[in-house]
Amino acid sequence: MKIMLISPSILNADYLNLERDIKQLEIAGADSIHVDIMDGKFVKNITWGPPTVAAMKQITSLPIDVHLMVCEPELNIEDYIRQDVSSIFIHPESTIFLRKNLLAIKEAGLKSGVALKLETPTDQIIYCLELVDVVLLLSCDEGFGGGSFQNFVIDKVSALKTMRTQYGLNYKIMMDGGINLETGKLSKNAGADILVAGSYILNADKKIAIENLKNL
Ligand code: DX5
Ligand code: ZN
Repeated sequence: MKIMLISPSILNADYLNLERDIKQLEIAGADSIHVDIMDGKFVKNITWGPPTVAAMKQITSLPIDVHLMVCEPELNIEDYIRQDVSSIFIHPESTIFLRKNLLAIKEAGLKSGVALKLETPTDQIIYCLELVDVVLLLSCDEGFGGGSFQNFVIDKVSALKTMRTQYGLNYKIMMDGGINLETGKLSKNAGADILVAGSYILNADKKIAIENLKNL
Protein backbone atom coordinates (compact mmCIF):
# COMPACT_ATOMS: atom_id res chain seq x y z
CA MET A 1 0.00 0.00 0.00
CA LYS A 2 1.27 3.46 -0.87
CA ILE A 3 2.12 5.53 2.23
CA MET A 4 1.40 9.21 1.72
CA LEU A 5 3.99 11.78 2.72
CA ILE A 6 2.50 14.37 5.09
CA SER A 7 3.66 17.95 5.28
CA PRO A 8 1.73 19.87 7.94
CA SER A 9 1.15 23.56 7.24
CA ILE A 10 1.74 25.85 10.22
CA LEU A 11 -0.32 28.70 8.76
CA ASN A 12 -3.03 28.14 11.38
CA ALA A 13 -0.66 27.18 14.20
CA ASP A 14 -0.56 29.08 17.50
CA TYR A 15 1.84 31.93 16.64
CA LEU A 16 2.65 32.52 20.30
CA ASN A 17 3.67 28.89 20.57
CA LEU A 18 5.19 28.12 17.17
CA GLU A 19 8.12 26.25 18.70
CA ARG A 20 5.78 24.01 20.67
CA ASP A 21 3.55 23.33 17.65
CA ILE A 22 6.45 22.55 15.31
CA LYS A 23 8.03 20.20 17.86
CA GLN A 24 4.69 18.47 18.38
CA LEU A 25 4.35 17.99 14.62
CA GLU A 26 7.85 16.52 14.49
CA ILE A 27 7.08 14.05 17.29
CA ALA A 28 3.76 13.25 15.62
CA GLY A 29 5.55 11.95 12.52
CA ALA A 30 5.42 14.83 10.02
CA ASP A 31 7.64 14.30 6.98
CA SER A 32 8.35 18.02 6.55
CA ILE A 33 6.99 21.38 7.70
CA HIS A 34 5.11 23.52 5.15
CA VAL A 35 5.75 27.24 5.62
CA ASP A 36 3.55 29.65 3.65
CA ILE A 37 5.29 32.95 2.93
CA MET A 38 2.70 35.59 2.02
CA ASP A 39 3.34 39.21 1.08
CA GLY A 40 -0.10 40.82 1.27
CA LYS A 41 0.04 41.37 -2.50
CA PHE A 42 0.13 38.03 -4.31
CA VAL A 43 -2.31 36.95 -1.62
CA LYS A 44 -4.14 39.13 0.85
CA ASN A 45 -2.55 37.60 3.93
CA ILE A 46 0.90 38.44 5.32
CA THR A 47 2.99 35.89 7.21
CA TRP A 48 6.71 35.47 7.76
CA GLY A 49 10.10 36.09 6.21
CA PRO A 50 13.63 34.65 6.19
CA PRO A 51 14.45 35.47 9.86
CA THR A 52 11.43 33.49 11.06
CA VAL A 53 12.40 30.58 8.84
CA ALA A 54 15.95 30.78 10.28
CA ALA A 55 14.47 30.56 13.78
CA MET A 56 12.37 27.55 12.78
CA LYS A 57 15.47 25.81 11.42
CA GLN A 58 17.02 26.07 14.87
CA ILE A 59 14.28 24.13 16.60
CA THR A 60 13.49 21.33 14.14
CA SER A 61 15.47 18.88 12.10
CA LEU A 62 12.52 18.27 9.78
CA PRO A 63 12.90 19.47 6.18
CA ILE A 64 11.28 22.87 5.68
CA ASP A 65 9.25 23.46 2.53
CA VAL A 66 8.82 27.14 1.71
CA HIS A 67 5.70 27.95 -0.31
CA LEU A 68 6.40 31.42 -1.71
CA MET A 69 3.07 33.15 -2.20
CA VAL A 70 4.69 36.45 -3.09
CA CYS A 71 4.99 38.66 -6.17
CA GLU A 72 8.37 38.50 -7.92
CA PRO A 73 9.81 35.59 -5.92
CA GLU A 74 13.16 36.15 -7.71
CA LEU A 75 13.72 38.96 -5.19
CA ASN A 76 13.52 36.51 -2.26
CA ILE A 77 14.69 33.10 -3.42
CA GLU A 78 18.34 33.64 -2.41
CA ASP A 79 17.29 34.67 1.11
CA TYR A 80 15.50 31.34 1.61
CA ILE A 81 18.26 29.31 -0.02
CA ARG A 82 20.57 30.79 2.61
CA GLN A 83 18.32 29.45 5.37
CA ASP A 84 19.10 25.93 4.20
CA VAL A 85 15.47 24.99 3.58
CA SER A 86 14.77 21.77 1.69
CA SER A 87 12.34 22.92 -0.99
CA ILE A 88 11.08 26.17 -2.42
CA PHE A 89 7.77 26.39 -4.28
CA ILE A 90 7.08 29.26 -6.62
CA HIS A 91 3.96 30.25 -8.54
CA PRO A 92 4.03 30.82 -12.31
CA GLU A 93 1.34 33.48 -11.71
CA SER A 94 3.81 35.53 -9.67
CA THR A 95 6.80 35.80 -11.99
CA ILE A 96 7.99 36.26 -15.55
CA PHE A 97 11.15 34.29 -14.69
CA LEU A 98 9.71 30.88 -13.90
CA ARG A 99 12.46 28.77 -15.47
CA LYS A 100 15.28 31.00 -14.18
CA ASN A 101 13.88 30.78 -10.66
CA LEU A 102 13.51 27.02 -10.80
CA LEU A 103 17.07 26.71 -12.09
CA ALA A 104 18.37 28.89 -9.25
CA ILE A 105 16.63 26.64 -6.72
CA LYS A 106 17.97 23.46 -8.31
CA GLU A 107 21.49 24.82 -8.73
CA ALA A 108 21.52 25.55 -4.99
CA GLY A 109 20.84 21.85 -4.40
CA LEU A 110 17.29 22.29 -3.14
CA LYS A 111 14.16 20.57 -4.35
CA SER A 112 12.32 22.78 -6.79
CA GLY A 113 8.59 23.18 -6.60
CA VAL A 114 6.05 24.85 -8.81
CA ALA A 115 2.68 25.74 -7.29
CA LEU A 116 -0.55 26.37 -9.17
CA LYS A 117 -3.46 28.49 -7.99
CA LEU A 118 -6.87 26.92 -8.32
CA GLU A 119 -7.69 28.58 -11.62
CA THR A 120 -4.31 28.01 -13.27
CA PRO A 121 -4.34 25.14 -15.78
CA THR A 122 -1.63 22.48 -15.69
CA ASP A 123 -0.74 23.30 -19.33
CA GLN A 124 0.86 26.48 -18.10
CA ILE A 125 3.86 24.62 -16.70
CA ILE A 126 4.54 22.15 -19.52
CA TYR A 127 7.72 23.96 -20.55
CA CYS A 128 9.31 23.91 -17.13
CA LEU A 129 8.28 20.49 -15.87
CA GLU A 130 11.71 18.96 -16.49
CA LEU A 131 13.09 21.38 -13.88
CA VAL A 132 10.51 20.49 -11.25
CA ASP A 133 10.78 17.99 -8.39
CA VAL A 134 7.30 18.61 -6.96
CA VAL A 135 4.15 20.16 -8.42
CA LEU A 136 1.92 21.67 -5.75
CA LEU A 137 -1.76 22.01 -6.58
CA LEU A 138 -3.61 24.50 -4.43
CA SER A 139 -6.87 22.77 -3.67
CA CYS A 140 -8.58 25.66 -1.88
CA ASP A 141 -8.61 29.44 -2.24
CA GLU A 142 -5.18 30.89 -1.66
CA GLY A 143 -4.01 32.88 1.32
CA PHE A 144 -5.71 31.33 4.32
CA GLY A 145 -5.99 28.01 6.09
CA GLY A 146 -9.31 26.30 6.71
CA GLY A 147 -10.71 26.75 3.17
CA SER A 148 -12.78 24.14 1.39
CA PHE A 149 -11.34 21.61 -1.00
CA GLN A 150 -12.41 22.14 -4.61
CA ASN A 151 -13.18 18.83 -6.28
CA PHE A 152 -12.24 19.94 -9.79
CA VAL A 153 -8.57 19.90 -8.71
CA ILE A 154 -8.76 16.12 -9.02
CA ASP A 155 -8.82 16.60 -12.82
CA LYS A 156 -5.56 18.51 -12.53
CA VAL A 157 -3.96 15.59 -10.68
CA SER A 158 -4.95 13.28 -13.53
CA ALA A 159 -3.58 15.73 -16.09
CA LEU A 160 -0.25 15.93 -14.24
CA LYS A 161 -0.02 12.15 -14.06
CA THR A 162 -0.61 11.88 -17.80
CA MET A 163 2.01 14.53 -18.52
CA ARG A 164 4.50 12.80 -16.22
CA THR A 165 4.20 9.57 -18.20
CA GLN A 166 4.07 11.34 -21.55
CA TYR A 167 7.30 13.26 -20.93
CA GLY A 168 9.06 10.51 -18.93
CA LEU A 169 9.43 12.66 -15.81
CA ASN A 170 9.48 11.88 -12.08
CA TYR A 171 8.00 14.88 -10.28
CA LYS A 172 5.80 14.29 -7.26
CA ILE A 173 2.28 15.69 -6.98
CA MET A 174 1.40 17.56 -3.80
CA MET A 175 -2.05 18.77 -2.68
CA ASP A 176 -2.38 21.87 -0.53
CA GLY A 177 -5.63 23.16 0.93
CA GLY A 178 -8.72 21.72 2.55
CA ILE A 179 -7.12 18.31 3.11
CA ASN A 180 -8.85 16.00 5.57
CA LEU A 181 -9.45 12.25 5.56
CA GLU A 182 -12.08 12.44 2.83
CA THR A 183 -10.36 14.87 0.48
CA GLY A 184 -6.99 13.25 1.23
CA LYS A 185 -8.40 9.92 0.09
CA LEU A 186 -9.80 11.47 -3.09
CA SER A 187 -6.38 12.99 -3.76
CA LYS A 188 -4.54 9.75 -3.06
CA ASN A 189 -6.86 7.78 -5.34
CA ALA A 190 -6.28 10.32 -8.09
CA GLY A 191 -2.49 9.90 -7.74
CA ALA A 192 -1.25 12.56 -5.32
CA ASP A 193 1.99 11.65 -3.51
CA ILE A 194 2.22 14.28 -0.78
CA LEU A 195 -0.49 15.98 1.28
CA VAL A 196 -0.14 19.39 2.92
CA ALA A 197 -2.65 19.70 5.73
CA GLY A 198 -3.02 22.55 8.19
CA SER A 199 -6.26 22.88 10.12
CA TYR A 200 -7.13 19.20 9.93
CA ILE A 201 -3.95 18.25 11.80
CA LEU A 202 -3.70 21.27 14.09
CA ASN A 203 -7.27 20.94 15.33
CA ALA A 204 -6.92 17.25 16.18
CA ASP A 205 -4.60 14.89 17.97
CA LYS A 206 -1.63 15.56 15.69
CA LYS A 207 -0.17 12.05 15.86
CA ILE A 208 -3.46 10.33 15.08
CA ALA A 209 -4.31 12.81 12.30
CA ILE A 210 -0.91 12.34 10.64
CA GLU A 211 -1.07 8.56 10.95
CA ASN A 212 -4.55 8.50 9.45
CA LEU A 213 -3.47 10.66 6.52
CA LYS A 214 -0.39 8.53 5.89
CA ASN A 215 -2.46 5.37 5.75
CA LEU A 216 -5.52 6.53 3.84
C1 DX5 B 1 -3.23 28.22 1.51
C2 DX5 B 1 -1.92 27.63 1.98
C3 DX5 B 1 -2.04 26.32 2.63
C4 DX5 B 1 -2.88 26.29 3.87
C5 DX5 B 1 -3.56 24.96 3.99
O1 DX5 B 1 -3.00 29.32 0.70
O2 DX5 B 1 -1.02 27.49 0.89
O3 DX5 B 1 -0.77 25.75 2.88
O4 DX5 B 1 -2.12 26.52 5.03
O5 DX5 B 1 -4.30 24.97 5.15
P1 DX5 B 1 -5.57 24.02 5.36
O6 DX5 B 1 -5.05 22.60 5.39
O7 DX5 B 1 -6.10 24.47 6.67
O8 DX5 B 1 -6.51 24.25 4.22
ZN1 ZN C 1 0.82 26.33 1.14
